[in-house]
Amino acid sequence: MHSGQWIAVGLLGALALAGCSVQEANRPDSVVPASQKTASRGWSADSWQAPMVDSTPDDQYEASVYRGLALLTHTQDSLRAYVGGNLNCTSCHLEEGRRANAAPLVGVFARYPRYMDRSGAVVPVEDRVNYCFTRSLAGSKLPPDSREMQDIVAYLAFISQGVPNGEHVRGEGMPKMPALVGDSARGQALFVDNCARCHANNGGGMGPVPALWGAKSFSIGASMARQERAASFIRHNMPFDRPGSLSNQQAYDVAAYITSMTRPDSPGKENDWPEGPVPNDVPYNTKGHKAFRPPRLLPRTTNAAAAIVNVPASVLRPQ
Ligand code: HEC
Ligand code: HEC
Repeated sequence: MHSGQWIAVGLLGALALAGCSVQEANRPDSVVPASQKTASRGWSADSWQAPMVDSTPDDQYEASVYRGLALLTHTQDSLRAYVGGNLNCTSCHLEEGRRANAAPLVGVFARYPRYMDRSGAVVPVEDRVNYCFTRSLAGSKLPPDSREMQDIVAYLAFISQGVPNGEHVRGEGMPKMPALVGDSARGQALFVDNCARCHANNGGGMGPVPALWGAKSFSIGASMARQERAASFIRHNMPFDRPGSLSNQQAYDVAAYITSMTRPDSPGKENDWPEGPVPNDVPYNTKGHKAFRPPRLLPRTTNAAAAIVNVPASVLRPQ
């Protein structure tokens, strides 16, 4: 080490004494011990693979992870009181949350707490899970300190093992689509030809196949109720047995049809994106945004208060 660097270290100490925080004092890299350098060095999203869940758990931790997985794949059977329709978490988070471009859950744990612009706040992973319970499953929020929530979080943490804090995995979220507009009349014809044999003519689902609209479907507050978001999911993942067979325009057309149909309401949705900007395809009114092609809504049968996840309180704007 050069003597100049020793001087820099000495200066840092003086700054700390003067009340300057570690964050403010821009530390030269050479002063950071190698062991504390960004853990992501040497980590590669291309080679990383989520670990497999042991189906014969040997200890309490593995048992919790295994229960968490079971809750994600059998949500409506296991948590009947918290699910509004006939969907499970893995109806959208395909292959146990491992499928790229289907809003994968692998790696998610390394990215929370996170700022969500829809909430206008930094939210913990439990809140993110509860957004999907209340909106995507049109159900009720699960108490964060419940056994079930902690099992779900244990599963999310397990399938994120090895992903450094703050890093991103391949195929995260759902790819942004080119800016097109769907035609719901063309979409209806595409639905009959490509989707109805599994999701049923009335869109209500059949057997293990979940609903696309109606009382058993996701609520208007779900990302899937937005035309562009639904088009992306469909373009990359549906029809289930022939993913990728629809063009971008066809995916938009069928998404336009599905999102135009009646679905459960989502209480509190008017408070979304409090800081803006609101994406164009949001189908309900919020501050500064006029609903894009709003569908007809069904009142929530569950306790409306249980369908709202409270945003962590702001220190700037007392609520
Ligand atoms: C109707 C489809 C649907 C269902 C059902 C659903 N989700 Fe989601 N989920 C989504 C979409 C879409 C996103 C947003 C992905 C993005 O940000 O691009 C999401 C995001 C998430 C995230 C955050 C992912 C990230 O990358 O930050 C978590 C965690 C999550 N869901 C968990 C769950 C759990 C647990 C359940 C069941 C209780 C569930 N979801 C049910 C569609 C769904
Ligand atoms: C071969 C049967 C099949 C076909 C055909 C099919 N799907 Fe699906 N779809 C499924 C299954 C099964 C799931 C749930 C995945 C799971 O549980 O693993 C699903 C899930 C979905 C979801 C997310 C969950 C929900 O219910 O909202 C959407 C959206 C969707 N399909 C749209 C479509 C569209 C649009 C078409 C036609 C272009 C289509 N699907 C064709 C079987 C099918």
